[in-house]
Amino acid sequence: MEVYPLARNAEVPMDLLLTADPSEKMVREYISRGICYVAKEKDLIIGIYVLLPTRPETIELVNIAVEVTSQGKGIGKQLIFHAIETAKQQNYKTIEVGTGNSSIGQLALYQKCGFRINSIDRDFFTRHYDQLIYENGIQCVDMIRLKMDI
Ligand code: COA
Repeated sequence: MEVYPLARNAEVPMDLLLTADPSEKMVREYISRGICYVAKEKDLIIGIYVLLPTRPETIELVNIAVEVTSQGKGIGKQLIFHAIETAKQQNYKTIEVGTGNSSIGQLALYQKCGFRINSIDRDFFTRHYDQLIYENGIQCVDMIRLKMDI
């Protein structure tokens, strides 16, 4: 697997990005300000993540997604560690990530990678998304923000 920044003029794998965030408007907005990194195997994109500078010395992992057929093989974890290394190389001191209160697997994954819960943005999803989101039988309403000093 090779991971590298997607060229500015390259076509963005929107379907894959939308598996991590159902709002195309939100996705288009942050990819215009951040950098997409893609993971390729045999010329096929199997994963993606987006890093978005937010404040001085702070960068946010705003979207991470692995193709369904490649999930559960450790690729998500590898991409998170790649994102952390990329942020370190660019001299960021803090990396943040946010996920929904209903995203149980993602909350487990981020904590397994060393992120710690920092704050809760209450009602984030009801404020910013038109559609109702349900996962694991739980309505997604709050954004759980996690961070790591790097
Ligand atoms: N409870 C405990 N651990 C869980 C879990 C759960 N419910 N769900 C997942 N995990 C753990 C796995 O056990 C694994 O840890 P391990 O290596 O210690 O066994 C880890 O989380 C995930 O492993 P990995 O195989 O690296 O993940 P992946 O390649 O399947 O990628 C996602 C993870 C989230 C990127 C992938 O499922 C995906 O693309 N989902 C759709 C998009 C999305 O939701 N993105 C995140 C938005 S916040």
